[in-house]
Amino acid sequence: MERTLTLCWILLLFISMAPVYGQYYSETVPYVPEPKKVTNLHFFFRGTVGSPNATTITVARANATGNDNSSPFSPNSMVVHDAPLTAGLEPTSEIIGNAQGLEVFPGHDTTSVVVYLDFGFTKGDLNGSSISVFSRNPVTETERELAVVGGRGKFRLAKGFALLKTRFLSNTNVTVEYNVTVIH
Ligand SMILES: *[C@@H]1O[C@H](CO)[C@@H](O)[C@H](O)[C@H]1NC(C)=O
Ligand SMILES: *[C@@H]1O[C@H](CO)[C@@H](O)[C@H](O)[C@H]1NC(C)=O
Ligand SMILES: *[C@@H]1O[C@H](CO)[C@@H](O)[C@H](O)[C@H]1NC(C)=O
Ligand SMILES: *[C@@H]1O[C@H](CO)[C@@H](O)[C@H](O)[C@H]1NC(C)=O
Ligand SMILES: *[C@@H]1O[C@H](CO)[C@@H](O)[C@H](O)[C@H]1NC(C)=O
Repeated sequence: MERTLTLCWILLLFISMAPVYGQYYSETVPYVPEPKKVTNLHFFFRGTVGSPNATTITVARANATGNDNSSPFSPNSMVVHDAPLTAGLEPTSEIIGNAQGLEVFPGHDTTSVVVYLDFGFTKGDLNGSSISVFSRNPVTETERELAVVGGRGKFRLAKGFALLKTRFLSNTNVTVEYNVTVIH
C-alpha cells in the first residue's frame, strides 16, 4: 500500500514537471552564456526610387501643407525597403543578400529618420542568417552609426553596430557602404 502510494507520488511529480504542450506554460532556469564571437561584415546597400522596380516605396504620407508629393521622401511619412546588398561597390557586383523593412520620417523634415530593417544573407555560410537593425539613422552625417539589436541563424542573440557611409547618391539611386560589427 505504502509503496503504491510512493509510486503514485513519483508519477504525479513527473507528470507535473513535464511541460504540457498545447497549454500555456512558462519555465525559468539560470542562463548559461555560451562563448561569444565577433563577426565583421562589409557590404553595400543599393536603393532605387522612382522606377517600377524601385527598392524603396512610400507607403504612407501625411497630407501636410508644404509636402512635395513629387519627392520620394517627405516629412511624416513611411517607406518600405526590399533592397539588394552587394559584395562590392560596382552595380554588377555579386548580390549577397537583401535588406527588408521600414524607414520612418517622423519629424517635420526628412533629416530625422528611424530604420527598422532586417538584413538577410543569401550566400555561403551566412545563407539564411540575418541581423536586425532598429535605430535612428543620422542621415545628415557623412559617417553614421546604426544599432544592431538582434539576429537570426548564425546571428542569434546578436548585439552590435553598423557604420555607414554614402558612396553614391543621385535622384534615383543610393549606394551605402556598411561595416557591421556583431557580437553573437
Ligand atoms: C525592371 O525589372 C524587369 C525584370 O527584371 C526588367 O526587365 C526591367 O528592365 C526593369 N525596369 C527598370 C526600369 O529597371
Ligand atoms: C489634403 O489636404 C488638403 C488641404 O488641407 C485638402 O484640400 C485635401 O482634400 C486633402 N487630401 C486628402 C486626400 O485628404
Ligand atoms: C540558401 O538557402 C536556401 C534555403 O535553404 C537554398 O534554397 C539556397 O539554395 C541556398 N543558397 C546558397 C547560395 O547556398
Ligand atoms: C569599413 O572598413 C574599411 C576597412 O577598415 C574602411 O576602409 C572603410 O572606410 C570602412 N567604411 C565604413 C563605412 O566605415
Ligand atoms: C540605378 O539603379 C538601377 C537598378 O540597379 C540601374 O539600372 C541604374 O543604372 C542606376 N542608375 C544610376 C544613375 O546609377
